[in-house]
Amino acid sequence: MAEVARPGAEQWVPGGADIATLRDAADACRGCELWADATQVVFSEGPDDAALMLVGEQPGDREDREGEPFVGPAGRVLADALAAAGVDPEQVYVTNAVKHFRFEQRGKRRLHKTPDVAHIRACLPWLQAEVAAVRPRVVVALGATAARAVLGRAVRVGAERGQLLPAPDDGDGAVVVTTHPSALLRLRDRDGWDEAFDALAADLRTAARAAAA
Ligand code: URA
Ligand code: SF4
Repeated sequence: MAEVARPGAEQWVPGGADIATLRDAADACRGCELWADATQVVFSEGPDDAALMLVGEQPGDREDREGEPFVGPAGRVLADALAAAGVDPEQVYVTNAVKHFRFEQRGKRRLHKTPDVAHIRACLPWLQAEVAAVRPRVVVALGATAARAVLGRAVRVGAERGQLLPAPDDGDGAVVVTTHPSALLRLRDRDGWDEAFDALAADLRTAARAAAA
C-alpha cells in the first residue's frame, strides 16, 4: 500500500472541547500510523480542573491493554514518588505526549519503542487541547519525549530538571521537567535508586508547591 501522508491529529480534535468530549473523539484519531497496531487509545486520567498536570511519553503494554495511563510498572514508581512528595494522586491530571502504544513485536512480547519526533508532533494537538481545557497551573514533563511536546523544543532533562520554566504559550502557567519514572525502573535494587527516586520526588514537590501557590 502506498504511504499516505498524514496531517497529524488536527482534523480529529474538536475545537474548544472539554476533556470528556476530547476523550471520546480520540478513539477515532488516525493522525499517525500508531493507532493501527495498538489495542486502543489511552487518553488521560484525573480531574479536568486539576492545578497539576503530569505528561508521560506514551502508554506501555499494560496501559494499552487497560486503556488507562500509568497503570503498569512505571505507574507504580510514579505513584510512590507522588506519595513521597505529599501529592494526592486523585488531584492530578495524568496524560501522555503520544496516545497510542508504539512497540516492536518480538515473538509474543511487545517491546516498547520510543516515539519519533513525527509521532510527538502528530499527537500534539491532543495535548494542546487538554492544556486548553484543564488550564493547569503547572505541567510536569516526565522525560525527554514529554518535555519536547510540552516545551516545543529538544530538552536535556539532566540540565533543566526541577526548575520552574515558563510555559511556551503566553499564559501564566509553569513547566517542570523531570526524569521519566521508567528510567528509575532500571535502577531498582541498585546503587543510584535512592538518589534518583528522591530527585523525582523533589521535582514533583516543586511542581505541586507552585501549583498550590
Ligand atoms: N509510561 C508512560 O510514559 N506513560 C504511561 O502511561 C505508562 C508508562
Ligand atoms: Fe492520533 Fe496520537 Fe494515536 Fe497518532 S498516536 S493516531 S496522533 S492519538
